[in-house]
Amino acid sequence: MCGIIGYIGQKDVVPILVEGLKKLEYRGYDSAGIAVVDENQIHLRRVKGKISDLVKNLKSSAPDGSFGVGHTRWATHGRPSEENAHPHRDCTDSLVVVHNGIIENYLALKKKLLKEKHTFRTETDTEVIAHLVEKHFQSSLEEAVQKAVQEIEGAFAIAAISLQDPGKIVVAKTGPPAVVGLGEGEYFVSSDLNPLLPHTQKIVFLEDGEIAVLDSQGAKFLSFQGKPLKKKEDLITWSPLMIEKRGFKHFMLKEIFEQPQVVRDTLKGRISLDSGKVFLEEIGIPAQALTKIAKVVVIACGTSYHAGLVAKSFIESLVRIPVDVEFASEYRYRDFILDKNTLVIVISQSGETADSLAALRAVKKSGARTLAVCNVVKSSIARVADGVLYTYAGPEIGVAATKTFSAQMAALALLALYLGQVRGTLDEKRSIPLIEDLQRIPHRMEDILNQAQSIEKLAQEFLSFSHFLYLGRDINFPVALEGALKLKEISYIHAEGYPGGEMKHGPIALIDEKMPTMVVVPKDHVYEKMLSNMSEIKTRVGYILAVAFEEDKEIRDKVDRVIPIPSTGPLFTPFLTTLPLQLFAYYIAAKRGADVDQPRNLAKSVTVE
Ligand code: AGP
Repeated sequence: MCGIIGYIGQKDVVPILVEGLKKLEYRGYDSAGIAVVDENQIHLRRVKGKISDLVKNLKSSAPDGSFGVGHTRWATHGRPSEENAHPHRDCTDSLVVVHNGIIENYLALKKKLLKEKHTFRTETDTEVIAHLVEKHFQSSLEEAVQKAVQEIEGAFAIAAISLQDPGKIVVAKTGPPAVVGLGEGEYFVSSDLNPLLPHTQKIVFLEDGEIAVLDSQGAKFLSFQGKPLKKKEDLITWSPLMIEKRGFKHFMLKEIFEQPQVVRDTLKGRISLDSGKVFLEEIGIPAQALTKIAKVVVIACGTSYHAGLVAKSFIESLVRIPVDVEFASEYRYRDFILDKNTLVIVISQSGETADSLAALRAVKKSGARTLAVCNVVKSSIARVADGVLYTYAGPEIGVAATKTFSAQMAALALLALYLGQVRGTLDEKRSIPLIEDLQRIPHRMEDILNQAQSIEKLAQEFLSFSHFLYLGRDINFPVALEGALKLKEISYIHAEGYPGGEMKHGPIALIDEKMPTMVVVPKDHVYEKMLSNMSEIKTRVGYILAVAFEEDKEIRDKVDRVIPIPSTGPLFTPFLTTLPLQLFAYYIAAKRGADVDQPRNLAKSVTVE
């Protein structure tokens, strides 16, 4: 899951490519490169490392030119190195390609091209594309790309430039995202919206099997078979300011502090406090059809999967229908049993996660109704599903998801309330107190964020630990999973989330003075059970930190440290119990000097399998 970018226009292309790559860097950051065309020559600059290393490289001599392509990499084939960095060249150095995705039949194609005397210089799958286009080139670059893509198996979004047919960038997509930006006399291609925000609001999303040809006159669109396409323009609603750090040290910290507003924005215009009514007709599934739903299946990955587990409690308690929550990477290959009375909810903040997209495509064939819960407008998953429920978190740059998790919970809580109202399992009398509680969540989140400093001080004491156990019960078990995931992915400390009651069936063997336990223990119907799990730990001299309601005085004698949170109704505690865990992980990682926004080996949007 790399980031590709291209620009053709009047302006100096290098700063535009570099600024664009900086905004794509969260998609992969182990090597980078650009290719700029000037005076009928292609200037290549590639580095191992980050965009900051590319900037250093360009400092000494940046090529001039008004069109070019760029790439930031998350290596799949060929270790991170200067020679394996994109753009990749053909035999004559007169054609270059940047690519996001995986060419599954690249070895077979490479063998064939080697027989045809093509010379390969890298270990990458991508280099095959450059030689394939070279092989098929007659006079037109788009025709050569058209022929090349017929031979490729796998997922790809590519942008190609050739000196034989100069003055154009040819883009082809099947799988990973590619967006074309339409400016005033200048045209862009990018893997996502962020690099386009400072330049234009007019965009065109490429669908699978489509090609775009950008030149100084404009953009034209073709199918892989060469058929001209008329494409609809969309308008971006996000502003460039939304992807600035606004004085925070890291995007992750800024995004943690944006959560109260993000929940407000996701609830806005969708609930009435007076009537307790929820308005979600926007999901595009008629109420009549919703009354026939007998089962819900939630499909997702990573943090979105944890939001799915929270949604299971929301829906089962308010709608009284069974909910299965499935890992997309597993479910897509499962011989699943679905029918038209099943509602399949695919949760993905980026809307581009390959496993979730593939699972969605697979379940659509079963006749089940599909609903996407996405944060990126018009993303692939949002476009493929029957209906979409958007979260309004704005662009999330930190690789570790935080504000999108809270926005997902807010949207899913609304969905559960709406389904309950439409199906009659939830009357006004029960709805109103729940809606009032939900409305109060942003304010209570602010209370927790106001005590961030005390969590920072607490984190200071745990910098040297290498293992952590996270425990939660019922609706807070997914919160324990999420807390452990946050610590793992940004501080590289091994952490495991477990249901409190499950601990004594194994993990309790890990308990010793080197393995602290973070327990999520709000006062709810499993509180007493959680207390007994905690005493099992204390009996074995384990160290316990507890996220608990501030008015819970009893717990103070049973644990070593308490992180107090304001109380709320049992169904919405995850909104409040998650924040301290995000902050705890953030401060530990930041104080250990980790690259919090771009943790090693990760990427924001996993667009390959
Ligand atoms: C979470 O912090 C990670 N970035 C990752 O687990 C993420 O949640 C997962 O890749 C799913 O992404 P999506 O919501 O964009 O589909």
